[in-house]
Amino acid sequence: MRVSDEPFISAEHVQRRVRELGEEINADFDGQELVLVIVLKGAIVFASDLMRHLRMPVRLEFMHARSYKGTESTGKVELCSYTGESVSGKNVLLVEDILDTGRTLPAVVAYLREQSPARLAVCALLDKPARRETDAAADYVGFTIEDAFVVGYGLDYEQHFRQLPAIHVMEEGEGPGGEE
Ligand code: IMP
Ligand code: MG
Repeated sequence: MRVSDEPFISAEHVQRRVRELGEEINADFDGQELVLVIVLKGAIVFASDLMRHLRMPVRLEFMHARSYKGTESTGKVELCSYTGESVSGKNVLLVEDILDTGRTLPAVVAYLREQSPARLAVCALLDKPARRETDAAADYVGFTIEDAFVVGYGLDYEQHFRQLPAIHVMEEGEGPGGEE
């Protein structure tokens, strides 16, 4: 597998859209404190850009969920570890990199709902509805994309390519980072 030379979504386009999402969230939460629960690792780049557009008081918490091996979903959501204070009574925005089969999100949402947040919204940079196997949905979506395996801007292929500023597609063939 190799990374496409041309970006699938350019860095500039991503930045523009992230700003728009930030403005939507500002309007919807109207100055009320918001706890961003950032799903590691993929959402860190997106979340760090998004939060800089938010004007309400913001707190950060992190959660870890893992379900992937290579480009294949294992179907099993491995552990959700959460290191923050309880979000009981808080407004929470769960920040995800991508909504794919939709298996991870319900597990993470269920975990947070147990703490009875005042409001829980989900923001995903990318959405691949063609692959959905559950009724998981996000309240805020950056880009709805076709079924392609994408990397960059936080997203990885076997832990590589998260640092790319644009979003690229993984293609068949040999190339940078491609072992096989
Ligand atoms: P889901 O449980 O299938 O919705 O998968 C969600 C997780 O799978 C995401 O948070 C990503 O970590 C990973 N994932 C799904 N599609 C892609 C992709 O195209 N590129 C990189 N990671 C992906
Ligand atoms: Mg991943």
